[in-house]
Amino acid sequence: MKIEKGIILAGGTGSRLYPLTIASNKQLLPIYDKPAIYYPLTTLMLAGIRDILIISTPKDIAAIQSLFGDGTTFGIKFSYKIQVEPRGLPEAFILGEEFIEQKPVAMILGDNFFHGHGLPSIVSEASSHLNGAHIFVYPVEDPSRYGIVSFDKKQKVLSLEEKPSKPQSNYAITGLYYFNGHVSEYAKQLKPSPRGETEITDLIRYYLDQGTLNVSVLGRGYVWFDVGTSKSLLDASNYVEVIQSRQGTVIASPEEVAWRMGFIEKKAFQSHVYALPNSQYKQYLSRIEPL
Ligand code: TTP
Repeated sequence: MKIEKGIILAGGTGSRLYPLTIASNKQLLPIYDKPAIYYPLTTLMLAGIRDILIISTPKDIAAIQSLFGDGTTFGIKFSYKIQVEPRGLPEAFILGEEFIEQKPVAMILGDNFFHGHGLPSIVSEASSHLNGAHIFVYPVEDPSRYGIVSFDKKQKVLSLEEKPSKPQSNYAITGLYYFNGHVSEYAKQLKPSPRGETEITDLIRYYLDQGTLNVSVLGRGYVWFDVGTSKSLLDASNYVEVIQSRQGTVIASPEEVAWRMGFIEKKAFQSHVYALPNSQYKQYLSRIEPL
């Protein structure tokens, strides 16, 4: 059975992006020509997920809601929930307990951006074969800054270390996670770490200890950014600009993904595009399915 539910965690303080984040939420800042949250949203959509809970801060939830509404335009159902304070990533599964209904769920961080040929099949393949939990890892140059895993040939995780001084591999855990229906129950048992937040690596460890943690490797043909710093925000923007202008395509358009995935009918897509203000974005979407 494929995962049908997904959470986008889009709160946080964004302190590393100060002063950009004084009045704006990090996931609403632009990655080149669209809000950063479009990128993780389309990753979930490419995994076939259409029932999506967005969690953000008391200050920012209204802005995100005005961006997406109820999701009809994209053939999606959006729900919204407030996280009063950034108490850690696992809190998403406690706040989202009613939404999850003890079913398998994906979570993606609102500041994460994945791109590369074959991404849709990697994310949907893993969704169809969920055991206990599934994570997506990416080779990095500086493993001591990340959660790092080692794994065997069957992609079963063997070890998990948080910011190790002597890393056993250079595969970093990215901000896309799949969990089975027990995740809320485990999240409630977690204690805050010394930095005062519950940690996603502690949650993942429950599954490692049960031997039900699997991994997909996003190899060198992929890019993964988390846009938590000004430099990574600029790097991601430059990447999008280069690919889009070279190929004449648009990365992470929810309208296009909804149309290609069959979430919306041709007529609904066309009338939505027709109503858009005149822009390059509209011109691109009009070329996909001429009015
Ligand atoms: P982080 O980048 O770890 O935290 P942050 O966004 O607050 O930024 P900074 O470290 O610069 O202060 O968060 C990763 C993602 O998870 C990001 O999209 C924000 C989100 N997040 C929440 O929504 N709630 C939380 O409790 C935490 C810790 C993060």
